[in-house]
Amino acid sequence: MASVTSLTASVHQRLADALSAALPEAGSADPLLRRSDRADFQANGILALAKKAKANPRELATQVVARVESGDVIKDIEVSGPGFLNITITDKAITENLAARYEDGERLGVPPAENPGTTVIDYAQPNVAKEMHVGHLRSAVIGDAVVQILEFTGESVVRRHHIGDWGTQFGMLIQYLIEHPHELDHKGAAEVSGEEAMSNLNRLYKAARTLFDSDEEFKTRARRRVVDLQAGEPETLAMWQKFVDESKIYFYSVFDKLDMEIRDPDVVGESGYNDMLDETCRLLEESGVAVRSDGALCVFFDDVKGPDGNPVPLIVKKSDGGYGYAATDLSAIRDRVFNLKANTLVYVVDARQSLHFKMVFETARRAGWLGDDVQAQQLAFGTVLGKDGKPFKTREGETVRLVDLLDEAIDRATAVVREKAEKVGLSEQEIEENGRYVGIGAVKYADLSTSAVRDYKFDLDQMVSLNGDTSVYLQYAYARIRSIFGKAGDRTPLAHPELELAPAERALGLHLDRFGETLDEAAGEYAPHKLAAYLYQLASLYTTFYDQCPVIKPAPAQEVAENRLFLCDLTARTLHQGMALLGIRTPERL
Ligand code: ARG
Repeated sequence: MASVTSLTASVHQRLADALSAALPEAGSADPLLRRSDRADFQANGILALAKKAKANPRELATQVVARVESGDVIKDIEVSGPGFLNITITDKAITENLAARYEDGERLGVPPAENPGTTVIDYAQPNVAKEMHVGHLRSAVIGDAVVQILEFTGESVVRRHHIGDWGTQFGMLIQYLIEHPHELDHKGAAEVSGEEAMSNLNRLYKAARTLFDSDEEFKTRARRRVVDLQAGEPETLAMWQKFVDESKIYFYSVFDKLDMEIRDPDVVGESGYNDMLDETCRLLEESGVAVRSDGALCVFFDDVKGPDGNPVPLIVKKSDGGYGYAATDLSAIRDRVFNLKANTLVYVVDARQSLHFKMVFETARRAGWLGDDVQAQQLAFGTVLGKDGKPFKTREGETVRLVDLLDEAIDRATAVVREKAEKVGLSEQEIEENGRYVGIGAVKYADLSTSAVRDYKFDLDQMVSLNGDTSVYLQYAYARIRSIFGKAGDRTPLAHPELELAPAERALGLHLDRFGETLDEAAGEYAPHKLAAYLYQLASLYTTFYDQCPVIKPAPAQEVAENRLFLCDLTARTLHQGMALLGIRTPERL
């Protein structure tokens, strides 16, 4: 593994050195380097520094220029405007830098983080015995991308799928199953599909609900069953486990459709913290962080009030003795910090739960479970809207089943793939496989290409469109590059640093150089949309390059062709790796 210093970093270093030579009191001041259209980079930092040192900015800039080491990397540096610096890089440095990336396999020269820590990320958390909906889609898709991006930067990541598998709602279901014991038996060794599992659960839920609403005695038995569940009574637990297992069959089938790996040991649902709940409450009460109020154990906050002006507490234990969502989340924090040794906790959860997390984090800080050395943050995501701009519902006003959405996306995508399939010579099997990759990619990309907190419209027409900022546009860009290699004959990719580069080659090259910086930003801000934007721009710069710089026809000189093929190949590999980090496949032929 050979990390590559990016051109931005090299230029930054040279400028910072010249700056501290010209203005020693500035120390290690930031020259504020940006990519620029006028030159390759522009540095804007001198203005503010000159102002602070009461110096003339143009003069300071001129002194910096005189001290910059130019030659191998910097071709040209000049003062412009009130004291900006315009910097142009040598073609040789660009090509050499890219050649070093090219040699570095999948990492493409991206250095690992200097001080990696341990991040526990809570994502993909559906609820047992319930359908998955678009909210669960967002958590899974965003969470998975953040996991991949963080791991690529070298962070140790622990995944936690905090599924809703505990609580009073199970009393009714378990009681029903105890009274109708064979309802979840699977005949023989036949595998049950995810769809069947969910329909079994739906059927049971409806039957149990009907009984619960019409039969007072059943209702009483169901309520008593909750107590047995919380006490860990074996028969009750065994029945509960059946619901969990049946639900997992369904969850895994959906995650599989989403082309996403969810590992069983990482599924630690609410029930997984059951043994800690008592102690969590005791510690909170003893330390005075939580107090009794109307029989419930509560934590109060000065700035959390209801519409009537009365404080709204976080209820850790209800007056009937039952534990809620908050007790579980507080216990999970203790586990994640003290057992898993996390430095960072990230929760990929709907923005509508933001108040809950604000209160939970604040409580954990007061209790000393979250110290100054541990960061906790909700990566809150917005709502998925229908074409009408309202929260996504079926025409009957019901929540849309995630599987139906995914199936529709795959159908649409398969039709798009099929239209072009003959030209590319795809078999029926390839059409179906690509249809899945394009359909699922479209859904993921639409989610990942806008910043998570924003709401977005679920619009399949737009998502599978070949033009614009869509995954299928990027997938086609990738496949088109790959197809060039079939036509290249005996010419193979080879970097030629001695060659002069055309403007479109330089622009593409400078963008390829920024892959690592983009990943750093995306990882540091938990912002996969920054990676998506980078990839889209990469594909656009490639298109311009391809229009302006012939690779195959008309055939350029041998070295030029080889160098261009090298740029093509590095672009393809960067697209492939970037898309993989977003959880999206890039088929070789499309
Ligand atoms: N199961 C919850 C839901 O469907 C999300 C769980 C979020 N994670 C957590 N630690 N509370 O809304």
